[in-house]
Amino acid sequence: PIVPVILCGGSGTRLWPLSRKSHPKQFTHLIGDVTLFQAAALRLSGPDFAAPLIATSAEFRFVVQDQLAEAGIAPDAILIEPDARNTAAPVLAAALHLAARDPDAVMLVSPSDHVVEDAERFAAAIRAGLEAVAEGRIVTFGIAPDRAETGYGWLELPSPPGDAALPLTRFVEKPDRATARAMLEEGRFLWNAGIFLARAADLLEAYRRHAPALVPPVAEALEGGSADLGFFRLAPGQWAQAEAISIDYAVMEKAANLSVVPFRGGWSDLGGWDAVWRAGQADAAGVVTFGPATAIDSRDTLLRSEHEGQRIVGIGLEGMIAVAMPDAVLIAPMDRAQDVRLAVSALKAEG
Ligand code: GDD
Ligand code: MG
Repeated sequence: PIVPVILCGGSGTRLWPLSRKSHPKQFTHLIGDVTLFQAAALRLSGPDFAAPLIATSAEFRFVVQDQLAEAGIAPDAILIEPDARNTAAPVLAAALHLAARDPDAVMLVSPSDHVVEDAERFAAAIRAGLEAVAEGRIVTFGIAPDRAETGYGWLELPSPPGDAALPLTRFVEKPDRATARAMLEEGRFLWNAGIFLARAADLLEAYRRHAPALVPPVAEALEGGSADLGFFRLAPGQWAQAEAISIDYAVMEKAANLSVVPFRGGWSDLGGWDAVWRAGQADAAGVVTFGPATAIDSRDTLLRSEHEGQRIVGIGLEGMIAVAMPDAVLIAPMDRAQDVRLAVSALKAEG
């Protein structure tokens, strides 16, 4: 069976005020009945999968434990990162942990901040990837792009995408606007879903080749780590020596043995309120409401109240985001959704 490695240590600042430093978006009920983290864990809990390995930072360990228990999932291990060092180091820690037990273990690295609509097709895409994995390849999953998104990685294919796994020509992480536009026009590019399938030993080999400086500190953090009340805590001193960089920049942009399986079962990275609006149930005017919310003569707008006792009403709004929490309200034009992280920086500066 495939071992899911679920990353859930990010901070999700663009979804303020719902996503907070102490309670980021992956642990909130952003969409649907379960949290995004629970949805990711449940999606990867069928007969094809072993118990998941969870990687998160120390401050989220109890919410992870509670949400897994609530979803009825028993983890293989919960790796605790003493501080957040982006995704390259935790994925490496997971690969080292699994390879020590079985170098042939197949791992599926998954973020916890996205929605997948069709779980069946998702499972089928993963099965399609296993063939390439057996040939020593690292498999990525590609989404048909519909805009020049600069917040994603882009996957270049040798020919226009069909259904089968294809070798990747190039991986471009977070391009600038002009590059993204050109790639969208070109038609041979897919978005990187952020999900990676590989044998633990092959992933390790890719780190040794492309990010060798990460290996000693992470290996030592694992060796010096300690089991602690159902968690495995990486050693802080060694962990602090590991560069804070994403797996996309550290490994995927450089690796030569990448393949891609196209995925058409509905995918969204809920990276900002605009994405939440796009993924929501819109009425004929493009208005998405959540909680006690009323829109009058409004279009293409997200109105959201997180508090049963507090109604939000919009009149004559066009292309707006309004999100009300009991202690904070966000109002912004839809096309400034990516700038919500500025609110978080501004508030931090105010103290
Ligand atoms: N354990 C752990 N520790 N998890 C982390 C950390 C960390 O320090 N930092 C981020 N994560 C988790 C996030 O919670 C999320 O689930 C996942 O790792 C990806 O991190 P993001 O910060 O959300 O990455 P991104 O969205 O900017 O980019 C990635 O995903 C895109 C698709 O959603 C890249 O893989 C892109 O290429 C990709 O297109
Ligand atoms: Mg993300």
